[in-house]
Amino acid sequence: MIQELADRAVVGGVADEPDRPVVVFDHVSLAFDDKVILKDVSFTLLSGRTKIILGASGAGKSITLKILLGLLKPDSGAVWVNGQRTDELAEEDMMEVRANLGMVFQEGALFDSLTVRENVGYRLYEETDMPLDDVDRRVEEVLGFVGLAEFAERMPSALSGGQRRRVAIARAMAAKPQILLYDEATTGLDPMTAMTVDDEIIKLRDIEEVSSILVTHQLRDAFYIATHAAVRQGNGDVRIVPADREKERESEFLMLRDGLIIFEGDAETLRRSKDEYLKTFLS
Ligand SMILES: Nc1ncnc2c1ncn2[C@@H]1O[C@H](COP(=O)(O)OP(=O)(O)OP(=O)(O)O)[C@@H](O)[C@H]1O
Ligand SMILES: [Mg+2]
Repeated sequence: MIQELADRAVVGGVADEPDRPVVVFDHVSLAFDDKVILKDVSFTLLSGRTKIILGASGAGKSITLKILLGLLKPDSGAVWVNGQRTDELAEEDMMEVRANLGMVFQEGALFDSLTVRENVGYRLYEETDMPLDDVDRRVEEVLGFVGLAEFAERMPSALSGGQRRRVAIARAMAAKPQILLYDEATTGLDPMTAMTVDDEIIKLRDIEEVSSILVTHQLRDAFYIATHAAVRQGNGDVRIVPADREKERESEFLMLRDGLIIFEGDAETLRRSKDEYLKTFLS
């Protein structure tokens, strides 16, 4: 079945097909020495949808993203990105796959010695032969998207924590990846600032049609993202509004515990779960 889904993804001209699998984990396992981190983990992310990975510290959430980026190889199982099997790829072939993946790292990870503009344009300057004027235009466009157009020449040290996260998001989206991976994008931010970051994640999903995987401890942010939608209004402005049930079901939660997926389902199903561990985690 999963192979079939993966095969379907490579059939030509499917960019707009809504149910196209963009990421497939098929029975992925990984251990460090004798410590098992992931045990037979399988999930599928469909185009334009969101997966929210929850789990205690050390559950393997960041490891899952690192496997997806090809920074770690699983011991067994298979990983597909956009219909291409990636777990066996050589590093140079993985570079091409990564062009479709944008990552917002847990540590934020801006280059302190580079301006906001240089940080955001980094991949475009370094990894593409895009003309400099086009890079500048794209940098301004994405900084505008996250509401930081006037900060292009600042150094990261002169930004607030929330502004730095938004720069990190602008950097991740600069090369127009189809898939964005967020590792704790709002951790450590106050609730209001976190919500401005959540709103950017929602806008990328609903306006730019990016597929996303979100790793977070922040349940409030996870539920907010799953239950809200971005809509463009007549005057061109984008508003964040409560999502209807159908839209809500496009975001799926996945709970990792002891290397296993112990829950997979939408916000409503997670809220109603009777599982003791889940209830404790959510309380
Ligand atoms: N390179 C490594 N070598 C050995 N063990 C590692 C390595 N990287 C991660 N681990 C271990 O793998 C487990 C999962 O790590 P991971 O970073 O995925 O956790 P996490 O779920 O992201 O946790 P947190 O919420 O704290 O970020 C941890 O126990 C960690 O110590
Ligand atoms: Mg982590």
